[in-house]
Amino acid sequence: MLNNPGISKKTLRDFNFDLKRVPVSVDFNVPLNENQQITDDKRIVAAMPTIKHLLADNAKVILCSHLGRPKGKVVSEMSLAPVYQRLCELLPDVKITFASDTIGEDAKAKATALQNGEILLLENLRFYPEEEQNDSEFAKKLASLADIFVSDAFGTVHRAHASTAGVCAYLPSAVGFLIEKEISAMDSALKNPARPFVAILGGVKVKDKIGVIRNLLNMCDTLLIGGGMAYIFLKAQGYEIGKSIKTDDESIALASELLIEAKEKNVNLFLPIDVIVAEEFSNESKHISVNATQIPADMMGMDAGENTRELFAHHIKTAKTVVWNGPVGVFEFPEFAKGTEAVARACAESDAITIIGGGDSAAAVMQMGFEERMTHISTGGGASLEYLEGKKLPGIEAIQDK
Ligand code: 3PG
Repeated sequence: MLNNPGISKKTLRDFNFDLKRVPVSVDFNVPLNENQQITDDKRIVAAMPTIKHLLADNAKVILCSHLGRPKGKVVSEMSLAPVYQRLCELLPDVKITFASDTIGEDAKAKATALQNGEILLLENLRFYPEEEQNDSEFAKKLASLADIFVSDAFGTVHRAHASTAGVCAYLPSAVGFLIEKEISAMDSALKNPARPFVAILGGVKVKDKIGVIRNLLNMCDTLLIGGGMAYIFLKAQGYEIGKSIKTDDESIALASELLIEAKEKNVNLFLPIDVIVAEEFSNESKHISVNATQIPADMMGMDAGENTRELFAHHIKTAKTVVWNGPVGVFEFPEFAKGTEAVARACAESDAITIIGGGDSAAAVMQMGFEERMTHISTGGGASLEYLEGKKLPGIEAIQDK
């Protein structure tokens, strides 16, 4: 059970959508393969509760999203056409149309023709440079298609774009069920967490996660650091890390500061105690397990060793709240996925509230089939990181308060 008072913004329950034209910003930025087929439709499925609620309320639903980074130009490989196909499969009884533009003639004509209980999907917002520029004219045009704006693009709310923030200046607004769920899950860790509260951070770049580590040091009891960034902390403690990761003075200085902060705040900070090192960055490379303080000069750290896996699993299993962001090894290579697997398995077996950040850790959990056993897996990579960092998310801030 999540334990927090809920979001302070207007929600779907604050409006009657009957007969209303409702633009819904969604994050349908899904991965496509070379044949333009969707390889993971999690983000589309995650928007379904909001879409179904609006349809049941007899609204005319206008979905808008970006896909990829086309940089303000029409890039046919980044069309939302495959998403349109998937939507039609997910909602076979609903009439769904697809506009070939976002604020142009086709979008206007199809939005005007839209009937209650129908959906119109607009083409990729980022085909227009004005979207990312948060251009007010563009936002006004989007708003002119409709009556009430609903924001449910959690993965994109850390961007102050026309469709996430700008549009709110021109319409009454509410957050959708996905945003409510995401915020509620993260707040259950960030506000009054059940203790012990254990955070696991992995991935490569300390600089990207510095704000998150700093913020979590104010609230967690134990911080487990793994993955590429652990080597920067080991280096900051004066150990040799071989060819593990490129370091720079700034990252090492940041890691040293964080080690001191953890001590001052009485947070138990654990680094790997043993690591799997390899000669080359490849799944086939020869590898051995070594003490984390004795990495050979000609080898690189690729994964958490057995003792580290046990240590991390122990803390996760005895926690009451767990937040995990970032793999603790090169999990895309099966030979070096054991550390990340151990963290995912411990989260799955733990009775704690388990909040999994988006991106790689979410992908790892799903790859290992533990999806159903987590309290919450975020659909937002950057957005969940910024929220964990304690930052305000512009796409949520812009929504009307309750
Ligand atoms: C994501 O995939 O994290 C979101 O869709 C945001 O995409 P962006 O980083 O291109 O803004």
